[in-house]
Amino acid sequence: MILPIATILFFTATCVQRVAAIDIDVTDTDSIINACFVFSHGLMSYYNGNTSDGTVGKFVSPYYWWEAGGAWGSLLDYWWYTGDETYNDQLSEAMLANVGPNWDFMPKSEVSTEGNDDQAFWAFVSMAAAERNFTNPPDGSPQWLSLTQLVFDSMAERWDTAYCGGGLRWQIFQFNNGYDYKNTISNAGFFMLGARLARYTGNDSYADWSEKVWDWLVDVGFLDLEYYYFYDGASVSDNCTEISKYQWTYNAAIFLAGSAYLYNYTESDVWKERVSGILANVNVFFDSSGVMFEAACERVQMCNTDQQSFKAYFARFLGLTVQLAPFTADTIIGLLQSTVTNGISQSCVGGSDGVTCGTTWLEAGWDNTWGLGQQMGALEVTQNLLALDKPAPFTSESGGSSPNVNSTGYPSSVYVYTNNITTADRAGAGILTTIALIMMLGMAWILASG
Ligand SMILES: *[C@@H]1O[C@H](CO)[C@@H](O)[C@H](O)[C@H]1NC(C)=O
Ligand SMILES: *[C@@H]1O[C@H](CO)[C@@H](O)[C@H](O)[C@H]1NC(C)=O
Ligand SMILES: *[C@@H]1O[C@H](CO)[C@@H](O)[C@H](O)[C@H]1NC(C)=O
Ligand SMILES: *[C@@H]1O[C@H](CO)[C@@H](O)[C@H](O)[C@H]1NC(C)=O
Ligand SMILES: *[C@@H]1O[C@H](CO)[C@@H](O)[C@H](O)[C@H]1NC(C)=O
Ligand SMILES: *[C@@H]1O[C@H](CO)[C@@H](O)[C@H](O)[C@H]1NC(C)=O
Repeated sequence: MILPIATILFFTATCVQRVAAIDIDVTDTDSIINACFVFSHGLMSYYNGNTSDGTVGKFVSPYYWWEAGGAWGSLLDYWWYTGDETYNDQLSEAMLANVGPNWDFMPKSEVSTEGNDDQAFWAFVSMAAAERNFTNPPDGSPQWLSLTQLVFDSMAERWDTAYCGGGLRWQIFQFNNGYDYKNTISNAGFFMLGARLARYTGNDSYADWSEKVWDWLVDVGFLDLEYYYFYDGASVSDNCTEISKYQWTYNAAIFLAGSAYLYNYTESDVWKERVSGILANVNVFFDSSGVMFEAACERVQMCNTDQQSFKAYFARFLGLTVQLAPFTADTIIGLLQSTVTNGISQSCVGGSDGVTCGTTWLEAGWDNTWGLGQQMGALEVTQNLLALDKPAPFTSESGGSSPNVNSTGYPSSVYVYTNNITTADRAGAGILTTIALIMMLGMAWILASG
């Protein structure tokens, strides 16, 4: 693609003069695109999957595989909103290298530590690829839509009624710590895929599942309908009675956008009310000057590597909500604009390049932190300012060309994982999830005593 001259000049300027600020005019498309160009470049500086040290699709340590799925989703929308095709080949390659033998984003290299939420974040990319009519893979490869359908089917099979009245567990495999935990994000992923597949394919069975997830979340108490608060999750050991009440931006955002999809698909007042209800309550994630923040950890500087990327998904799903439920546009665009003007513009002034973004956008200036999640967050908030300038996600009827699983066919044989995971993989997986649990407990203590 040919970059607009303004972009090239801007970028040259940042390299040569180390300009110490990104001045983003939130009402000017060129200015927004220029900033996105800079943020995406910073994001890709963490990618080494195209080198002999890396793995295709994965980013440098310490970023886990799931966050790579998050980052490719940011880059897919980066192309969509700016027209810059620079990373499209790498994006396509990343997805296809990670589909796994069953074409459901369970690659052998990652599967031993894979949770339902991890799988969902990759499926969000393939779904978006179908909805944005991203170039289809060659014949014989799994296709964007069929991949997403197979992920969805695998999740539907894992719906577990033995404890807590239903729901997906966090982990897929019993040998991983976290298998005993049912969390909102895993179920949010399933809910959202159902909503998007229903709208894209016109098949109501997908929407029925999303409805079921919503109802279960209310029954089990992970969703408090009085305030539309989405809590983190609970253990099956006490049948989900002791709920961990952290609220993360991405949970609210996924249910917001998923509800917007279902509203757009069904045009029912029920889903419209749910969209309005969630939207009215996401204000807990904005400060008094309208700057987005991760309320559960940011002010106490306790957001871990994963959590540093959550605002990226929050912004992406706010943008989708604007497109699918246009009655929310004024509110949401206003919040994205204030986040850019009062937050991101002053935060993304760090590092040796002078345009590195920090974790928090609440303070004046850069907070001396950097990373993949930080770049993703700034990129997603800024590019979603353009939500109204681009078509809403396509469907199979309205511009999408990704073939259905019925026409592409299924993988020729099903690879069964549970019998094939080695003891070494198990040990590794246990450690990872144990660390995650310990960190959560540590944070609980700090918040409680803080
Ligand atoms: C890998 O990708 C990055 C980001 O697109 C690029 O800057 C880099 O030159 C690429 N490296 C190789 C070896 O292709
Ligand atoms: C477990 O929780 C579910 C949902 O809250 C409830 O329907 C079920 O009766 C509970 N089971 C037991 C054994 O308490
Ligand atoms: C609709 O989706 C469900 C769930 O994946 C599937 O079992 C069913 O065959 C689909 N129906 C049609 C008409 O494609
Ligand atoms: C569904 O989305 C389209 C595209 O943005 C929009 O034109 C239409 O009004 C939406 N439907 C509803 C019920 O809001
Ligand atoms: C989607 O892609 C297909 C295949 O490249 C193309 O024929 C079609 O025109 C595209 N649809 C839109 C809305 O651009
Ligand atoms: C897909 O296949 C299923 C099962 O064979 C069938 O019920 C359904 O109608 C098919 N869907 C489409 C869209 O062809």
